[in-house]
Parts: sequence; C-alpha cells; structure tokens
Amino acid sequence: LLGSAGAAGLAVGAVGGALGQQALAAPAAGTGGSTGAALGRATIPFHGPRQAGILQPAQARVQLAAFDLADGAGGTGSRDGLRKLLRQWSATAARLARGEDAPSAENQIARDAGPCSLTVTFGFGASLFDKTGLTDRRPAALAPLPDFPEDAIDRARSDGDLWVQIGADDALVAFHALRVLQRQAAGTATLRWQMAGFGRTPGATPHPMTGRNLMGQVDGTNNPKPGQDGFEEKIFTGGDGWFAGGTYAVVRRIRMLLDNWENLPTDRQERVIGRRKSDGAPLSGGTETTAVDLTARGADGALAVPADAHIRVAAPGSNGGAAMLRRGFSYADGVLADGSPDAGLLFVAFQADPMKGFVPVQRKLARGDGLSRFIRHESSGLYAVPPGAPEGGYVGQALLD
Ligand code: HEM
Repeated sequence: LLGSAGAAGLAVGAVGGALGQQALAAPAAGTGGSTGAALGRATIPFHGPRQAGILQPAQARVQLAAFDLADGAGGTGSRDGLRKLLRQWSATAARLARGEDAPSAENQIARDAGPCSLTVTFGFGASLFDKTGLTDRRPAALAPLPDFPEDAIDRARSDGDLWVQIGADDALVAFHALRVLQRQAAGTATLRWQMAGFGRTPGATPHPMTGRNLMGQVDGTNNPKPGQDGFEEKIFTGGDGWFAGGTYAVVRRIRMLLDNWENLPTDRQERVIGRRKSDGAPLSGGTETTAVDLTARGADGALAVPADAHIRVAAPGSNGGAAMLRRGFSYADGVLADGSPDAGLLFVAFQADPMKGFVPVQRKLARGDGLSRFIRHESSGLYAVPPGAPEGGYVGQALLD
C-alpha cells in the first residue's frame, strides 16, 4: 500500500497547484520517461487549503520524524514555544518548497539541488494538547489507537507530540529539510524518532506506473482518488472548528518477513494478496484497474479471490465503507540479530476519522488477513494533520492564535 500510481514521473515539471489536483489520477500513457533537470525544478507549494504531502503522489524519498516538546515550561509557556516553532517551521518549509537559496551559514546539504517536489507535512499527537493546556481543543478522534492482535509495538519509535513528514525526489533534499527543522526546534522540541523511506524514482520505468513494495507487489491500485464520489468526506474532516479541513494520519512501521515471503511460490503469494504479481490484476480477472469481483469463482468452484486475501479483507465493502488514502514508503535498515532483513513498509494513511478508516480495517486484517503471517507491526502513531496554511500563515494557527 504504497502511494498511488508512480505518477511522480509525470508530475515533474508540472508546477504548483495543478499537481495537487492531479494528485492521484491514473498516469497518462506514453508520457514520462526522461526527467532530467525537470525533476530538480519541480515544486509543490507549501501554502493552500490542504497541507502538501497528502494528495500528491508519493515522492522517491521520505523522512518521517516525531518530536516531543522539551520539558520545562508547561501549559501556556510551552504553547508560546510551540506557536513560535510552528511559525518558523512553516516559513522554512514554504521557502524550501519554493527552492529558495538556503542561507550560507546553513549546512548546505542540498546546495546545488532544486526543490525536487519537496513537501513538508505537520501533524499533532494527542500528547501535544495536554502539554500545552489545550486538552479541550483536541480533535475528538485523536485518541490512542487500540492494541491489535500480533502487534509488536516499540513505544520509543511510536507516538510523539509533533509529527513531520518530509517527501522529496532527492534523498539529500529530504534529509536537509529534516536537519534544518531539527535545528530550529532546539530548545523547544527534541527528536523522538526518525525513519527514512523510499519509493520508485520518477523516470525509473519506461512510463509512469503504480509502484511496487518490497514484497514485489504492485501497490496503491485501489486507493481512493480525488474527484471520486465521497472522497473529500472520507479523507478530510468537516465542521467549522480549527481542525475543519484537516485529516488524521495513521503511521505504522510494518516489517516484512521477507525470507519467509520469498520462499513462497508466486501463485501462493498471489493468493495472499488476491492480485497477480506480474501486473497487479485482481485474481477475479481483467487488468490492474479492473474492479475486483469478490464473488467470482474459478473452474473448481472456489473463490477466485480467496476468503483471507488481503484485498478482500481490507476492501471498503468488507468494512462498512471504511476508506483511507494510503501513501506509504518502503524502508530498508540493515539486518536484525537473527540475520533477517529489517525492511518493510512505512505505512502512512490519511482519513477523516481513524475509527471509520484504519481501526476497523486493521481489526479485521489482524484476525483474518493471509498477509499477517508475513508482516509485523513494530511502531504506531496517530496524528491530527491540520488544514494547510494560507500564504503568510502557519500550520496550526487557528488553534494557537
Ligand atoms: C490493498 C499490500 C498493509 C489496507 C493492498 C494491495 C497490496 C497491499 C499489494 C493491493 C493493491 C492496492 O489496491 O493497493 C500491503 C502490504 C502491507 C499492507 C504489503 C503491509 C506490509 C495494510 C494495512 C492496511 C491496508 C495495515 C490498513 C489497515 C489496504 C486497503 C487496500 C489494500 C484498504 C485496498 C483494498 C481494495 O479496496 O481493493 N495492500 N498492505 N493494507 N490495503 Fe494493504
């Protein structure tokens, strides 16, 4: 469940808002390919009604991080610090997204590179509201996620007061932005955890196509798409409070048991997901984008998409319409003590209400998903992602001013 179609290859060169609109649309055939310097120049504006980094195709690189407010001043004092930090972070993110030159005193990691479709997305953890005396303004659904069967959650790499997602089509650009934000936070907030992820690089395939995850599956096909009926309501919050137009991000580090997975013959791998590995077509027939027919049966009378296939168990139709916008990245961080790869998926999913999106689906997946034998959820976070900031404003302003 990486982000949707690797349309980023297409998007480079597209400037600004158009990208947001096109975000998850299926890539047009016959375009893309060579990207050259256009990849460096591509910009996604920081300001707008939605934060950047939600609707745009996932970039080739991501840095995910969470920060905790520094101990010391509680209540109003820390609220002042938070306000100042978010103002500074927003201004910096906007400047970097425009590709404006960094001050020469800066670390210069991204010197020579363009913005490379940099996006910076900010989210607030439940703990932030208590620490700043704003408990009564905490969004209703920002409660800790429940424990799921088979969870193996490392709390030190979970949660956090502030969440930051930095995407870019260049690894140096993404890391640079993280370092700049981290240095600006000094004295106000400290880094709690950080994870680096990646996806397909624009231009790597002869034409833009849906990306693959580290299990080799075509991943992102059946993501909800802007413009589809009910998309806005399912992904963004309504109402008129400070959080109207925001969304909730569920972040899970999911390790893949790749040695076990790769020992499974391809036809069995396909039955675990319910789609063909070569091209992502559902086992009920057709091509990648053909609607899945969960009632279809094979010549032997058995369900074409098995009862425990991931796409059957996760489908909105099996979960009272539950939907989320998945925008994940792969990670690969060396080997574990037992020699197995520490690699998998940095699952990021946006939804208007986690209790109607991630939670019911994960409850069901944890019980009955054939894929669960090959994965471990190792960290977890839920963050309220405020609406975007208008030009001159900062993310979270309606809460803090
Ligand atoms: C679909 C892989 C975890 C929710 C898919 C597909 C693949 C996939 C290959 C089919 C293509 C597509 O439509 O995107 C994985 C892997 C996971 C994982 C490798 C873990 C490492 C999760 C989790 C959730 C989830 C934790 C949510 C709790 C979904 C949903 C769909 C989907 C909603 C679309 C189902 C449909 O409507 O057809 N996933 N997934 N997945 N996945 Fe996952």
